[in-house]
Amino acid sequence: MKVIIVKNYEEMSMTAAAMINAQVRENPESVLGLATGGTPERTYELVIETNEKSHTDFTNVKTFNLDEYIGIPKTHPLSYYTYMNEKLFSHININKANTHLPSGEGDIKANGIKYDEDIKKAGGIDLQILGIGENAHIAFNEPGTSENSTTGEVKLTESTIKANSRYFDSIDLVPKTAISMGIASIMKAKKIILLASGANKANAIRATVEGTISELVPSSFLQKHPDVTIIVDEEAAKLLKQYRETAMCTVFK
Ligand code: GLP
Repeated sequence: MKVIIVKNYEEMSMTAAAMINAQVRENPESVLGLATGGTPERTYELVIETNEKSHTDFTNVKTFNLDEYIGIPKTHPLSYYTYMNEKLFSHININKANTHLPSGEGDIKANGIKYDEDIKKAGGIDLQILGIGENAHIAFNEPGTSENSTTGEVKLTESTIKANSRYFDSIDLVPKTAISMGIASIMKAKKIILLASGANKANAIRATVEGTISELVPSSFLQKHPDVTIIVDEEAAKLLKQYRETAMCTVFK
């Protein structure tokens, strides 16, 4: 995996937005895998700015999001469906029919199977954006998730519920389960970019990049993928040791 260490959140976002724009310019029919959470928010703002200024054309781009809560309707203000529409889709010239999120309503098992099929039918994900949880979860794949997992229902850990409670009025209102792309579904993406900012992600980043590959660290499976770029700020990178000295790591000061 390649690691790019930048100064701060803004520079992480600028680097990620530039990579998304480059992907769409190079292939206007790209299939993008998208993430939610606080981490990609600024990246999406910058993609919107470029869409306005330089008219990067999203008309024929397709998107597949990583996950969605179960137990709140998609129209809920804190659903990932609402997040994506408010933070990106409503501000760029994408065809909404080309945007997909797994559905946390109805038959979850069937939704999961169909979601993986739909990704396959679209030709697979060209560029997958990932955030990371403090416990190294990717999408909602918590520690203990099998490498062979596909899209389906997952149980959130206490630490994830606590981390995500910052958006809800009370911790009791945070859904306890979600539908998430599995590790195997994510690993099928042709290219993956993982973003992390802040000292609270430093342990997870060290385990992702320099740790042993293990179900206990879901993000560590990314070490097996042929094209992963980790874009981290100094704070999130502060526990990286040997990797900093390798040719696979670029540090921007
Ligand atoms: C959530 C999402 C993940 C996200 C992670 C980190 O639980 N399901 O896709 O990467 O938490 O979120 P944040 O970027 O807000 O730290």
